[in-house]
Amino acid sequence: MTQETLPSWSALRAHYEQIRDERLRDWFAPANDPAPTRAERFTLGGGGLTIDFSKNRVTGETLGLLTQLARDAGVEARRDAVFAGDIVNPTEGRAALHTALRSLDPSAPHHQQIAAERAKMTAFANQVREGKWRGYSGKPIRHIVNIGIGGSDLGPKMVCHALHHLADPQISTHFVSNVDGADLSRVLEKIDAETTLAIIVSKTFTTLETMTNARSLRDWIVHSGCPEEELHRHFVGVSANPEEVVRFGIAKDNVFEMWDWVGGRYSLWSAVGLSIMLSVGPENFDALLAGAAGMDDHFRDAPLETNLPVLMALLGIWYRDIFASQSVLVAPYSEALHYLPSYLQQLEMESNGKSARLDGKPVSEATAAIIWGEPGTNGQHAFFQMLHQGPTLIPIDFIAVLTPEHRLVGHHAKLLANCFAQSEALMLGRTLEEARKVAGPGKEDLAPHLSFPGNRPSTTILLDALTPAALGALIALYEQKVLVQAAIWNINPFDQYGVELGKVLGKVVEADLEAAAGSDAAGKHDSSTAALIARARALLAP
Ligand code: F6P
Repeated sequence: MTQETLPSWSALRAHYEQIRDERLRDWFAPANDPAPTRAERFTLGGGGLTIDFSKNRVTGETLGLLTQLARDAGVEARRDAVFAGDIVNPTEGRAALHTALRSLDPSAPHHQQIAAERAKMTAFANQVREGKWRGYSGKPIRHIVNIGIGGSDLGPKMVCHALHHLADPQISTHFVSNVDGADLSRVLEKIDAETTLAIIVSKTFTTLETMTNARSLRDWIVHSGCPEEELHRHFVGVSANPEEVVRFGIAKDNVFEMWDWVGGRYSLWSAVGLSIMLSVGPENFDALLAGAAGMDDHFRDAPLETNLPVLMALLGIWYRDIFASQSVLVAPYSEALHYLPSYLQQLEMESNGKSARLDGKPVSEATAAIIWGEPGTNGQHAFFQMLHQGPTLIPIDFIAVLTPEHRLVGHHAKLLANCFAQSEALMLGRTLEEARKVAGPGKEDLAPHLSFPGNRPSTTILLDALTPAALGALIALYEQKVLVQAAIWNINPFDQYGVELGKVLGKVVEADLEAAAGSDAAGKHDSSTAALIARARALLAP
């Protein structure tokens, strides 16, 4: 199947030509929407979330055509194949069963294996949280250091930060990912070896950054006074390669398993989320999973027309492929969701940043948009200028949490007001005529600078509160959005060969950087790379 040959695709393109110049402010205007009903018609709930799609450049007809596209592209069959545990990642010959990790259904694939590993995690987390698991000098654990990168870092870091208000105040959680030693060094300044538990998380257990940081942390703990034979009190590993974990020196009993049917960027629901469980406790971890399972149920059961992940995906395709927009801004009006944009960058761009279809032929349309973002209101004082008055159309996902997770008064209404006001202003804009009035008599020349094009689309996702369940639903919403888009683009969202290439090339250059003085890297590289290596080698030399 190719997207551009589907009848619904040509119908959508024709429909775009009809409505491209229509304005959202007119669709909302009382003359066209007297009741008014637009907000109500385009606001939907599911899986515990409420989403207002009304400020998008769509009519009922647009959504009808988009859902027809999803149907024609076989989205439902692709969705069912994922839940059933079929090989949906054919280039690696694997299933993608992150949904099974959070399913409560005993007939879900691998249910027993998953339950057994969860029970092991729970028992371990309780021991640590109750102070029964002690470091080499007999003190309870006070610092968790999660060492991992990509999917072995971004998900747990994002969730731990988001649920900080539920964290055990006695246990601080740190994340080290970058091979830049500055990352680990800064964490070492805040912890002490006697009360530190390191979780080395790596699906492969061969990732350069993770193994380098893990070795450095082990050396630091030993140099701080921990006898080698007591290291097992300070290190656990999470991997789909348990033999390699043991080879690294982690005790067999301290190995938590994930499986090759869990993709790295979809893995926070597995033992990869151990840092989350240690921080907020097993009950909250279970609630996170239950929230995601609720969104999965909605995704499976709701008709395409009212299906939240499907609509999120279709709007993404509408803007990316038909309006040719390059990026999507994710703007959580929540400091707790600070790391959501970077988490979504990996989820969406590593999954769908592909040019080959499943059959190996080139895609006919642009795939993954660039995902970027910052929490509001900070972004308003940085890049929102461009959103309002720049020439580029950038659709926005606003995310708002209706009740605060802190007790400070006088903040939350201001935060929410800014979120809602931005979506309103971006939608309405300000016409030249309105701008002339704002400029005032004699200052009409200012009008072009004071006018805003408006018609800038946005979606507003509402969480009643930042509970583990609501957060789980939010993450699953985006995971399933990615799957729907992959089905329409007919690509495999579960491999990442582009990243693998970088890993291989990095090793070659590293060997040249560390080669003995006098050895020649010039013949192996282009002249620019060879000169960079030579310059760095001169300063790197001991
Ligand atoms: O960045 C590439 C990647 O393979 C990601 O997909 C993965 O999440 C990350 O590296 C870490 O890999 P691992 O968990 O095997 O260390």
